[in-house]
Amino acid sequence: MDFNLTEEHVMIRDAARDFAQTELLPGVIERDNKQEFPDALVKKMGDLGFMGIMVNPKYGGSGMDTISYILIMEELSKIDASAAVIVSVNNSLVCYGLEAFGTEDQKQKYLTKLATGEFIGAFCLSEPEAGSDATSQATTAEDKGDHYIINGTKNWITNGGRADIYLVIAQTDREKGHKGINVFIVEKGTEGFHIGPKEDKLGIRGSDTHTLQFNDVKIPKENRIAEDGFGFKFAMKTLSGGRIGIAAQALGIAAGGYELALKYAKVRKSFGTEICNHQAIAFKLADMYTEIEAARMLVLKSGWDKDQGKNYDKSSAMAKLYASKVAMEQTIEAVQIHGGNGFVKEYHVERLMRDAKITQIYEGTSEIQKMVISRAIIKQ
Ligand code: CAA
Repeated sequence: MDFNLTEEHVMIRDAARDFAQTELLPGVIERDNKQEFPDALVKKMGDLGFMGIMVNPKYGGSGMDTISYILIMEELSKIDASAAVIVSVNNSLVCYGLEAFGTEDQKQKYLTKLATGEFIGAFCLSEPEAGSDATSQATTAEDKGDHYIINGTKNWITNGGRADIYLVIAQTDREKGHKGINVFIVEKGTEGFHIGPKEDKLGIRGSDTHTLQFNDVKIPKENRIAEDGFGFKFAMKTLSGGRIGIAAQALGIAAGGYELALKYAKVRKSFGTEICNHQAIAFKLADMYTEIEAARMLVLKSGWDKDQGKNYDKSSAMAKLYASKVAMEQTIEAVQIHGGNGFVKEYHVERLMRDAKITQIYEGTSEIQKMVISRAIIKQ
């Protein structure tokens, strides 16, 4: 067993760290205040290969492994969790889904653009009445022979207003339950496809979240991914990898809060000494460091499972469950260590605390992760 990163991994991590410090940090408070999507930065992340990290270079990707993806996600999330989720959805839910299950034509037409950042992707599973209970899709895709007609509403869609390509999950045959669900590639601008208003969110405010409406949207049959009825399994398989990305995002948010708190505690003085010399603060730092390291081990282990070709459904759920809990709890501590300054935007920790909450909700709530883990261990 070797816990060291390879030289290549260190280089990738440092490149992401450098990008986050020099490019993401300067405008992050303003983007959060204004709910502003980082268009120019997404282009730069595309140029750096961050939009198609694990995609085969023959489709324009960077051909890196999942460990590299985790390292990049952690570094971006320490500074700007909004930019990180744009990267995560594009990589894990859209590029991975197309590369693993798409036809060669679909890969040539869409993946090559998504992997370079020329296009942005969105993944449309959640609905007003089907968030956790993903088999209860109300959106329909009626089979009309050479095409499908899609009708329905999708909620809380990341990259919803900015995406070029939307992977839309819909029910074709309700009697078949989850085996009657399909997934389709829908291009922005298709007739009948409407982008609803942007959500005003607690956190990850620089990301773009919308409700989408599909009114008699005609989609050619060649835009269905994989065989008839594969849509639900497609969603489950892509979400397992997505959970590694969100676990890494949570890890980055926690580590970002910890690094700021440590720095602050070493310079802020009270009762005649730096506050890190008070045991009340020192013990908090010890707990933060320990829990973040434990989360890092779980996240890297799930990435390692994926890179080794092992099943990672359980390990990705464990990584997301634990890292998101650590992110929430430890960013609250980071604010506490900062005292009154922690409540002020310029110190960044209040934003990290707000951003942490979504990691316990999207790509399956913590309760969903416990369902996945408990089912797996009971079956073992
Ligand atoms: N891989 C392959 N197949 C899987 C699978 C996996 N990981 N998980 C389940 N399946 C299969 C099962 O084997 C079963 O198939 P068979 O009937 O052939 O055996 C089928 O799928 C149905 O499985 P379940 O009976 O377990 O289904 P369920 O209704 O009990 O639900 C669930 C399981 C885990 C709760 C699932 O509904 C789920 O993950 N819900 C959460 C959905 C979610 O994460 N939504 C997030 C939206 S996307 C998002 O947030 C993106 C973003 O914007 C950031």
